[in-house]
Amino acid sequence: MRHEGANNKKMERTYIKDLQTKKGSEATIKGWVHIRRDQGKMIFLDFRDMTGKIQGVILPNAKEAHEVGSKLRPEWVVEVRGKVNARPEKNIQKEKQNGDIELEILSITVLNESETPPFDLSTDGKEIGEESRLKYRYMDLRRDRLQKNIRNRFKVTQLVRNELSAIGFTEIETPLLTKSTPEGSRDYIVPSRIEQGKFYALPQSPQQYKQLLMTAGMEKYFQVARCMRDEDTRGDRQPEFTQLDMEMSFVKREDVMAVNEDLLIKLVKTLYPEKEIQEIPFPRLTYAEAMEKYNSDKPDIRKDKNNPNLLAFCWVIDFPFFEKSDKGGWTFTHNPFSAPKPEHMEWLMKEEKIPEILTTQYDVALNGFEIGGGSIRNHQPEALKKVFKIMGYTDERIEKNFGHILQAFAWGTPPHGGIAWGFDRLMMLLENEPNIRETIAFPKTGEGRDLMMESPAEADPEQLTELGIKINVKK
Ligand code: AMO
Repeated sequence: MRHEGANNKKMERTYIKDLQTKKGSEATIKGWVHIRRDQGKMIFLDFRDMTGKIQGVILPNAKEAHEVGSKLRPEWVVEVRGKVNARPEKNIQKEKQNGDIELEILSITVLNESETPPFDLSTDGKEIGEESRLKYRYMDLRRDRLQKNIRNRFKVTQLVRNELSAIGFTEIETPLLTKSTPEGSRDYIVPSRIEQGKFYALPQSPQQYKQLLMTAGMEKYFQVARCMRDEDTRGDRQPEFTQLDMEMSFVKREDVMAVNEDLLIKLVKTLYPEKEIQEIPFPRLTYAEAMEKYNSDKPDIRKDKNNPNLLAFCWVIDFPFFEKSDKGGWTFTHNPFSAPKPEHMEWLMKEEKIPEILTTQYDVALNGFEIGGGSIRNHQPEALKKVFKIMGYTDERIEKNFGHILQAFAWGTPPHGGIAWGFDRLMMLLENEPNIRETIAFPKTGEGRDLMMESPAEADPEQLTELGIKINVKK
């Protein structure tokens, strides 16, 4: 426990945003030197903390402060005591935070010095090579744009948590060390030390776990879930990304769509009031209509593509369940766990009209990006088995890969459905960023590398021996 003496009381830290309440009195701030302008007799210093910025000035008569102030450089960490003065009318900058006040610096304590930073932190950073920004990401994150993106990301998460909790959802964590499940991408795998030659798979999504939570009677689940997919990285794709994942029992397609549409509208109206949603309720297009009209299953239906504050959400529904696989058989288009549309269940059970079977899948698109997708699930074991049968799986393979979920469904699993948002993509669009890396604190490069930690990296030979692994790299 830390005890603060009475003398320390008056040295209490004031956050920069609260200096407004201290006009005419003294205050102590802690933070970074943002910009320094030495005008000889007077030194101007902008300071920054997590709440904002303030301009400080060292007047010629403040001898001691002047001595320290002349040594200061950007990014030094300081504690500054000063008097909060109202600025003369002609110097007021109305549109700027603290533009009507100035800190007359009385004393400065240096808490840590800084070498010259690797790049300019006072700009939006768009002019700096991304390799450098990612290598020194902890510095890059200091700039205003990234601070805003990361803090707003938290605000959106928090709103979603609060809203979903308020309507009876429980947030539940699911394992990261798990087993391969078909999500349409390649797995990252983790070797087991105890069972040499065996591997865990990192989840491409919590799909099976969330369905098993419905079997478990949780009824309304959500998770801010990390997903891992070994696929080629793009502007809107990272090897590890975040889903806002949810699943609900006793629901129909309309129920899941309504919960999500309400949530998206609420979060835009609350946290991004400057943005305009093009159409409410969100328009719905069938997959066939979207392809015909926009030649895309994530159509950009914006009426004005020059308006950065326009959000054109739409739903895409009625996707075909199956498509021909490379090997000539059938494979699922979205999710093998989806149910067909109720009127097509009979075709599925009879293995008839396979290319015409439509799924209950619904995707939500925003300004030309797929920001989420989900479906009503196939909760009857026989129907789920049929899907795998159509895909050419043998009974043994079905039992080996999906025995656990088929058993679960045989013990009274309620009808259920859900969705997952691509949370990084949503943040990218809300923040008007060109790619999802700008909304992730520590993203990877296009080649899936973490330049800051220098990963992936070779493993220690001892570790490999312990895991029973021999490297056989193609040179
Ligand atoms: P799906 O595979 O469509 O569905 O993923 C859901 C959403 O996640 C986002 N997304 C990604 N974002 C960044 N990087 C990636 N590599 C990446 N891959 C996907 C997309 C996508 O819409 N389990 C199902 C959901 C469900 O049916 O409930 C699933 O994972 O925005």
